[in-house]
Amino acid sequence: MSDPVFVRLGSRPTPYSDTVRARLDHDADRIVARYSPPEQPDSQMARSALLPLLHLVQAEEGYVSPTGIGFCADRLGLTGAEVAAVSTFYSMYRREPTRDYLVGVCTNTLCAVMGGDAIYDALREHVSGDDAHITLTHVECNAACDYAPVVMVNWEFFDNQTPESARSVVDALRSGEEVVPTRGASLCTFRETERILAGFPDERLGAVQAGGRPGDPTLAGLLVAREQGMRAPEAAAPTDSGSAPLGSEDAAASESAKDKPAPAPTESVPPEKGH
Ligand code: FES
Repeated sequence: MSDPVFVRLGSRPTPYSDTVRARLDHDADRIVARYSPPEQPDSQMARSALLPLLHLVQAEEGYVSPTGIGFCADRLGLTGAEVAAVSTFYSMYRREPTRDYLVGVCTNTLCAVMGGDAIYDALREHVSGDDAHITLTHVECNAACDYAPVVMVNWEFFDNQTPESARSVVDALRSGEEVVPTRGASLCTFRETERILAGFPDERLGAVQAGGRPGDPTLAGLLVAREQGMRAPEAAAPTDSGSAPLGSEDAAASESAKDKPAPAPTESVPPEKGH
């Protein structure tokens, strides 16, 4: 018989202190009640509270720690493995402690070619691994490609950045100045942001503003389409199965269009302004 093999599984998570646990339980009750009210408890619906609960524990420790995973599992009747599977899927949940400001440089395709890689390289030289205030990271596309390259600090957008402007943002954060993103209210700390993402009120001045409008880069394609008289094809009325009616001309045309290659750019592509 061969010798037994021992696998080191790591230390057990340290439980929250009684005071912290009581405070988190109070907050978790409010979050879970949004999905599964106490008068009509439903364990399946309560599980929907996992994402905000992960933000809540991230607000406590600056990341989703093993203790935080255990807390979420305990509150929702899940296993630690189930909670860990969700928290490691989404990049907004951090696996390592995060300082006051999470500076994320978008290095997905469009931002990268527009200067995101150069910004990341510049900040890597500017921010040491043991900086007291800043945690530097890559971030995935956040659908602000029309303002590329973008930098996000605690998930707030800084549009059309350069290495120099990004360094200035970092310097202002380090010196404790009020820093206002391109859109939205002044930045708060990472942990304060996480509490807001857990669903608690955002009380920053100007945080919840009505009446904003899309910026010009966002509308550029729409304006070109209007000038050129382009419009989307009419949608066929859905059937019970959700697809276009069988046998209709639109459905046949749509099916045959799927087999054709996409058209190459032609003279119908509008010229750039000024040409
Ligand atoms: S590629 Fe950077 S926001 Fe989309």
